Amino acid sequence: MATKVILEARDALRLLVPGPVALLSTMYRDQPNVMAASWTLALSFDPTLVGVAVHPSRLSHEFVTKTEQFVLNVPTADLIGAVHLAGTTTGRSGDKFAACGLTPAEGLEIEAPLVAECVAHIECGLLDRQTLGDHDLFIGRVLRVQALDEAFGSVWNVAEDAGQTLHHLGGDRYAGLSRPYTVDPADDDQYR
Ligand SMILES: Cc1cc2nc3c(=O)[nH]c(=O)nc-3n(C[C@H](O)[C@H](O)[C@H](O)COP(=O)(O)O)c2cc1C
Repeated sequence: MATKVILEARDALRLLVPGPVALLSTMYRDQPNVMAASWTLALSFDPTLVGVAVHPSRLSHEFVTKTEQFVLNVPTADLIGAVHLAGTTTGRSGDKFAACGLTPAEGLEIEAPLVAECVAHIECGLLDRQTLGDHDLFIGRVLRVQALDEAFGSVWNVAEDAGQTLHHLGGDRYAGLSRPYTVDPADDDQYR
């Protein structure tokens, strides 16, 4: 067997490449903001809870803390430029929606705006916040979910452009999910 290299502890975070990059949108006193967030996770079906780990230095951290609400929007690969800009600049310097060429749109349940260009939106009310290390885990109760039907049925439609979610590998590198697999219980030799 080929030799495996011992890595730094923090490489574990990049080995466990997370799900799709989300755009976390917030609004405080009529100022909308948006940041890239790839450290998201599913936490519970009933009640339906999701989490997002946000560093306390982010303006978005302040806005979620103050308003107790946020939206996780899912962009597709064509938005890579806007996503990267939303993840490398801060709303403290000005209107980041405008800088990224993104459009705030009204949500159905909360005041935080949706990102209109995204194919899916998860509106959340803040249930809890846990400080676990250098990031804080915001736990959101899911209040409303919507997605473009060509992008998402009961799962992401990765065969279509509309379902091409973007996954952050690290730095300026991203990837898409290009190959779907389906388990066939009758086939013992699948994918060998
Ligand atoms: C692809 C990508 C994913 C990111 N994911 C996270 C994340 O999950 N949590 C976090 O705190 N910062 C994350 N960041 C960094 C923030 O998006 C970045 O610090 C941003 O400038 C914060 O903006 P704000 O100050 O307007 O809130 C990510 C950056 C990129 C490029």
